Amino acid sequence: MDIDLLVVGSGFYGLTMAERCAEELGLKVAIIESRHHIGGNAYSEIEPETGIEVHRYGAHLFHTSNERVWDYVTRFTQFTSYIHHVLTTVGGEVYQMPINLGTINQFFRAAYGPEEAKALIIEQAQELGDKSPENLEEKAISLIGRPLYEAFVKGYTAKQWQTDPTELPAGIISRLPVRYTYNARYFSDTYEGLPVDGYTPWLEKMADHKNIDVHLNTDFFDTSQPFNKDSAVGQIPIVYTGPVDRYFDYAEGDLSWRTLDFEEEVLNVGDFQGTSVMNYGDEDVPFTRIHEFRHFHPERDYPKDKTVIMREFSRFADRHDEPYYPVNTAKDRERLAAYREAMAGEKNVLFGGRLGTYQYLDMHMAIASALSAYDNRISPHIKTGEPIV
Ligand code: FDA
Repeated sequence: MDIDLLVVGSGFYGLTMAERCAEELGLKVAIIESRHHIGGNAYSEIEPETGIEVHRYGAHLFHTSNERVWDYVTRFTQFTSYIHHVLTTVGGEVYQMPINLGTINQFFRAAYGPEEAKALIIEQAQELGDKSPENLEEKAISLIGRPLYEAFVKGYTAKQWQTDPTELPAGIISRLPVRYTYNARYFSDTYEGLPVDGYTPWLEKMADHKNIDVHLNTDFFDTSQPFNKDSAVGQIPIVYTGPVDRYFDYAEGDLSWRTLDFEEEVLNVGDFQGTSVMNYGDEDVPFTRIHEFRHFHPERDYPKDKTVIMREFSRFADRHDEPYYPVNTAKDRERLAAYREAMAGEKNVLFGGRLGTYQYLDMHMAIASALSAYDNRISPHIKTGEPIV
């Protein structure tokens, strides 16, 4: 194997690691990717009938307050000035999310100031008295009171988890953001925007280096291809960003995930919903949200008579589904602890990214985590010729 480093997975974690090792250390890096495209879940493509950029694995909004990440990502792309806002349709009305003073006043048909609204929510949140919350419903009521919970959390959460909130553990939520201002901006990071030319050109630029070879449609567990687990482990340093339970052949049991199903449609209207993301809080609407991609790029010259929408449905994943959000039950945490011990025994393999560490990571977090693993684990060891882990 004529390479210095094997990176399994071409998402933001794998690409950041490959780019740093190729550029800074001059290593020859092979990236293998089981999908037919680069970029992991941030991949986007142009819908052919309309020319509209579609985020293939759900809407991806870039935001960060991390200066190092911002300096790093702006080497590969410029960002638009897009600022994300989310609306929700509940009971035939459209409200701003996250819950803010506008949402509260519209919902209660009132004109409260911040202090009055706060006093009302505190009072409504006392319903359970001193009882400690035993399930998600009780926890949510203890945070925002029953009326707001039933309107904005109950149905949406039940659809996300396909489980009644009284059956879900209280620990799934630790806080529910309520803003006592009219600020409806979804993220509050210093930097926010979308890549000017789209996600895929950004991702491709990260891999565009003479020392990096990308092998698509190549699965690490397929022993018929040269860069497989049996042939590579112990021979060369590996950065593995696939699912950790799969790596160990599910020896400690499956880690549970939620997945999403997407239903895409091209409509013969110039604008379907007037905004990029509309949540649906009512339980009798089967999907959780609708994305309308043209609104992510108002600066682009998209057709005036067509639009692309994508309905999102949520459910538990099995082994054959795309794993999207870790469920993180007590059993998952137990299994993860056992996998962590197994990882520690796996010499010269670094486990990273959202699948390799079983945690939800935003894009900026995946990049930050790769940059710091590069600094602390890869770079010093490669320089001395020691195993990376
Ligand atoms: P990622 O999953 O992207 O990459 C892992 C790669 O490894 C995949 O390409 C996979 O095919 C490959 N792989 C796995 N097993 C393999 C094997 N055996 N052999 C070869 N290759 C293998 N973040 C954000 O900042 N803003 C947002 O708005 C969103 N929105 C969002 C929506 C949805 C629905 C999801 C699920 C996620 C987001 N994210 C997000 C998070 C974002 O997608 C995430 O931060 C990055 O995907 C993390 O990059 P990774 O490299 O860790 O994983």
